[in-house]
Amino acid sequence: MFELPELPYAANALEPVISARTMAFHHGKHHAGYVRALNALITAPARAQMRLEEIISEAAAAKETKLLNNAAQCWNHSFFWTSMATGPAQPSSALKIAIDAAFGDIAALSERFSQAGVGHFGSGWVWLATDRSGALEVIATHDAANLLASKDMTPLLVCDLWEHAYYLDHQNSRAGFLDAWFGALPDWAFASAQFEAASSGATGWRHPPPVQ
Ligand SMILES: [Fe+2]
Repeated sequence: MFELPELPYAANALEPVISARTMAFHHGKHHAGYVRALNALITAPARAQMRLEEIISEAAAAKETKLLNNAAQCWNHSFFWTSMATGPAQPSSALKIAIDAAFGDIAALSERFSQAGVGHFGSGWVWLATDRSGALEVIATHDAANLLASKDMTPLLVCDLWEHAYYLDHQNSRAGFLDAWFGALPDWAFASAQFEAASSGATGWRHPPPVQ
């Protein structure tokens, strides 16, 4: 079974962009609910020891939609918490060069990221990702979908576009949330490590394994 991962910072650490109250609902209720639903769906002994990435792949191949959605939402939320930080950080020089090549500069990337999130209809996620050649892209995915099905793409950052991520703090202003989020919360040290992993053919971040 999977456990709800602990947040890597205090619940109020991401204020004012993400309040402790939002965090209490988002991590303590929404994410916890996905973990509970996932555990209820992986009772088969053959799946008890599987990594979450393998479960997602198997559920996608078998078209087990309920399992796929809950497993992917667990993966996405854990990656989301991990890709945010409280302290200042800058992209590595290699990542900075890739950002400049793809978007012009980091301000232009911020604008692209916000536009992709605002223009995305309904719930989902907006990702900064790289392919194996180091070319960056901003990609929005619907509902629980992520980039695991695309073996060539490695995510560097993600922001949650579901209303539960921002409604208490920013009401209906997804644009306000995304602008504030990109300006304050990306963990550039983590994003740079993901970029480095993708460039060297390594796996990068994986979800914490199941526990007994
Ligand atoms: Fe969420």
